[in-house]
Parts: sequence; structure tokens; C-alpha cells
Amino acid sequence: MTFDTDAVAEATEQQGLESPQASTTDNEGLSMKTAQLHLDTIARQQEYVAKQEAKGGGVGIVFQDAFIRGMRDLGYKDPAWALAELIDNSVQAGASTVEIRFGFDKANATQAKNPSQIAIIDNGTGMDPKMIGYAVRWGGTDREDDRNGFGRFGYGLPSSCVSIACKYTVYSKMKGGEWHAVSIDLEKLAAASSDPKATEAMLKPQRAQLPAWVASGAKDGACTLHPGTL
Ligand SMILES: Nc1ncnc2c1ncn2[C@@H]1O[C@H](COP(=O)(O)OP(=O)(O)OP(=O)(O)O)[C@@H](O)[C@H]1O
Ligand SMILES: [Mg+2]
Repeated sequence: MTFDTDAVAEATEQQGLESPQASTTDNEGLSMKTAQLHLDTIARQQEYVAKQEAKGGGVGIVFQDAFIRGMRDLGYKDPAWALAELIDNSVQAGASTVEIRFGFDKANATQAKNPSQIAIIDNGTGMDPKMIGYAVRWGGTDREDDRNGFGRFGYGLPSSCVSIACKYTVYSKMKGGEWHAVSIDLEKLAAASSDPKATEAMLKPQRAQLPAWVASGAKDGACTLHPGTL
């Protein structure tokens, strides 16, 4: 690894740290323990590289599988924040209502146990069908760096969804349009991480019908879903 030495000196000075030169390690003076640590590290790195190469290597600068696993844990610690992020998007899409609806398994008809599904439903502008395929990707946004609303990074939707579930679907419909959806299955995406064509196919928006538990509730709910996003 190489660093711009001026930048390092400046950063260490700002943090009140000693200059890095003062702590250089003398290779000859390595203890047996340190030498073993080095051997173990190199062996582990070589094993890791061989495993990545067997999988076909990474695509670009991000290892999709490791990134997805990391984002699940690094993202929102509290589901309430994740839901708030999705509600931000609904508000910015001009929604007048946002419903949060729960789905229960048949075996759980009395709702004694936690819901197995959750839908965040809005009656905002909806999305252009192709936009759904971008909205589910980190960095996919039509308002990058826009300071006038809540969203500007293109990270909110995917980060909040992966923090809640391993499988989720984004459905959306514009006025006068049809429902389209992209279904995300994190395990399948991770498995296809070295195959751009397979990844693209999984992120391609498809014509869709709303799941029955959402469509039936929509009739009596405050949200007409015409158009809208969930
Ligand atoms: N409920 C929604 N209705 C309509 N479009 C939406 C909705 N949710 C997301 N989008 C579209 O998907 C894009 C990605 O959303 P996402 O939350 O990831 O990013 P963002 O809101 O632009 O930025 P931020 O990361 O700051 O939240 C948005 O830019 C918008 O075009
Ligand atoms: Mg957002």
C-alpha cells in the first residue's frame, strides 16, 4: 500500500499522533511470534485469492457477495430507521398516504406470532419501470446530490431493505401504466456475483401482479395504489 506521505503527515499532525516514521519495524528484529503471524497471514491471503479466482474473481472494485453481507450488518441497526428511510422516499414521491401493512402466514391466522411479511405502500408518483431496476442498486438515484429533498445518495432503498430482509420485492406503477417489479434474493445475487449477465437478468424489472395479501387489503385501505410504490 502506498500513501501520499504529505497527506499522512498532515493527518497524523491533525490527530495529535506521532509521526509514522517513529514506529518503523525492523525486519531483522522480528520475534518468532511475529514471524509466524506473517506466515499465517500470507497463507490466509493466498488461500483467499485462490478461492476468489476459482469463483471467477470480482467485478470492478466491489465484491458483490461480501458487500451484500457487510451491508446487512453495517446498515440500519434499528428497523424503525429502515422504515423511515422508505417513508422518506414515499413523501418525496408526493404520496398523500403511506401504509405499513403486515402479512401473516395461514398457520398464524390468529396473529399470535410475528408477521412474516411487511409492505410499505404509497400512492406517490410511482417509478418508470426501468427505474425500479436502478433504484434497487446502491448508488441508483435520479437525484444525486440534490439538497432540496430527503434523498441524494441512492443508498436509502437498498440499504434499508437488506437490513430488514434477505428477500424483498419493489413493485411500482406510474399513472396509466402497469405494475412492474424487481425481486431481490440476496443469496442468489451473491452466488451470481462474478457473472454480470446473470446479475443483470436478476435486476431486470418484470411485469408483475401485486401479491394477494396486499391487493385485497388495498381495496379497504387508505392507499388506492393507483399509482404507487411498495
Ligand atoms: N416510493 C418511491 N416512489 C417513487 N420513486 C421512488 C420511491 N422510492 C425510491 N424511488 C426512486 O428510487 C431511487 C433510489 O431511492 P433511494 O432511497 O435508494 O435513494 P435516494 O432517495 O435518491 O437517496 P438516499 O440514499 O439519500 O435515500 C430514488 O432516487 C427514486 O428515483
Ligand atoms: Mg431515499
